[in-house]
Amino acid sequence: MLKIKDLCFEYEDGKVALKNINIDGENGNVIGIIGANGTGKSTLFMNIMGILKAKSGSIEFDGKKLTYDKKSLREYRKKVNIVFQNPEQQLFYSDVYDDIAFALRNLNFTEEEIEKRVYDSLDRVNSLDLIKKPIHFLSYGQKKRVSIAGILALDGKILLMDEPTSGLDPEMTKDMKNIINEIKNDRQVIISSHDMDLIYEICDYIYVIKDGEVTAHGKPEDVFIQTKVLTEARLDKPWLIKIYEKFNTPLFKSEEEFINYNK
Ligand SMILES: Nc1ncnc2c1ncn2[C@@H]1O[C@H](COP(=O)(O)OP(=O)(O)OP(=O)(O)O)[C@@H](O)[C@H]1O
Ligand SMILES: [Mg+2]
Repeated sequence: MLKIKDLCFEYEDGKVALKNINIDGENGNVIGIIGANGTGKSTLFMNIMGILKAKSGSIEFDGKKLTYDKKSLREYRKKVNIVFQNPEQQLFYSDVYDDIAFALRNLNFTEEEIEKRVYDSLDRVNSLDLIKKPIHFLSYGQKKRVSIAGILALDGKILLMDEPTSGLDPEMTKDMKNIINEIKNDRQVIISSHDMDLIYEICDYIYVIKDGEVTAHGKPEDVFIQTKVLTEARLDKPWLIKIYEKFNTPLFKSEEEFINYNK
């Protein structure tokens, strides 16, 4: 379980990017971090990974404070993984198979186990057809999926996903929603996004960030009716909330619920 307490972070040029952030991983299995461009979502994720070092406050995993020595970070990152906003940051090897296999080889898995894991993880992101492709032939959306597969091949407990649907077309976005709904069965997911429809549908609990500070948190249905908080954070409401507020219909949790509703 992840707990972030009074986390503050400042970049070298003096930019204070995170101020007193408190996040409790016990609040839900899928946690959303929402905020406009430049509010600190990626900075927060880099802090959680220990890539950036907090100025003050703490990050705890299973009751243990994150420390920054190589050995502790290596152990920690076996449990806590990230899929970066930009898939280029994640993919290094010449083809899809080798890219996913690389981390597993480092962990001394047998070639037989590696093959199984590469196939399984690509299958989970509906991308088995890409297994032999050179990375540089992949489209942006395909790279996003392969970078997720690379993480799913490892036995993590928490997966941070930074903007998993940015740059994806509507069908790929739907597909990504299904992928995340499947991933949450075997690990906790913490997801940052400006896609309010996605966040509303898949998250159990959300945190609103504005200028590096949490300005609201709670269940999506409670946070997304707080018009003032959202306006100040420069965020829109999910369309299902807009329909609920305008037509006084029941509050649907998903597009499917809405479509299947007969008055
Ligand atoms: N290396 C850096 N040095 C100084 N300031 C930085 C650095 N990287 C990011 N920032 C600043 O920190 C703030 C938070 O940036 P961050 O990338 O975390 O935002 P974000 O919420 O992820 O935005 P987006 O939605 O566009 O991905 C921004 O004001 C940004 O300009
Ligand atoms: Mg970002």
